[in-house]
Amino acid sequence: MTWLERPVPWGRSMAEYHSMFALETVSKEARILDIAAGSASFTAEWNHTATQEGHKGRALACDPLFDHPANEIAADIQAARDQIMPSVRTRPERYDWSYLTSPDGLEQTRLHAMTAFIKDYRRPDAHRRYRALALPHLNFPGEQFDLALCSHFLFRYAGMLDLQFHRAAIFAILDYAPELRIYPLLTLDNRRPATLEIIMRDFSALGHHVEEVPVRYRFQKSADHMLRIVRAN
Ligand SMILES: C[S@@+](CC[C@H](N)C(=O)[O-])C[C@H]1O[C@@H](n2cnc3c(N)ncnc32)[C@H](O)[C@@H]1O
Repeated sequence: MTWLERPVPWGRSMAEYHSMFALETVSKEARILDIAAGSASFTAEWNHTATQEGHKGRALACDPLFDHPANEIAADIQAARDQIMPSVRTRPERYDWSYLTSPDGLEQTRLHAMTAFIKDYRRPDAHRRYRALALPHLNFPGEQFDLALCSHFLFRYAGMLDLQFHRAAIFAILDYAPELRIYPLLTLDNRRPATLEIIMRDFSALGHHVEEVPVRYRFQKSADHMLRIVRAN
């Protein structure tokens, strides 16, 4: 297993997804696929909100991480906090705090999100919402979604995952959803990935609508746009 399949779990909240992906433009009735979902609480929170508010909207998460039991992931979350937070507190100037406000704000947001994820992941019916799948191979027989989201995976590891991987991954996603949103559009070391321009050009040439959209979310410096790809009819 590579480290990409077993990274440090440090998942984001639905509120963070909301501002990364401009979800105010999305119907609460939408069926959403969270790709490379990791320990983010988006799926748990979107489904919970739909149930509470009586919407038909549903979310499903996929990630190779979901091959692992809850106790193992929960232990990794604690280890991640001990590894990540001291380094953030030592060099806070590396980040943009206009959204998460402070290292304490970051820690609270992340732990709150991952607690909600673990709680949902421990439920007996979790296999319906959490699927152990790794791009570029998706498999949702008979299922379709209105929107796919991919936070902090595609383009982020551009040095390790090449153009061919990105192309195959995006084709696989568009087989199941007519629209894909990807954030951020920067590599881990804050560079604009060389693959981004090529993917934008190639998918536009195939007739898909491709655009970079400014978003409100801030944390990684200069990560202020998402990519929107809307499948050609
Ligand atoms: C940085 S985390 C992002 C988690 C979540 N989307 C968020 O923003 O909080 C990256 C995730 O990509 C997952 N991953 C690694 N290889 C993958 C693959 N081939 N296909 C899908 N997900 C993968 C990892 O397991 C990890 O959970």
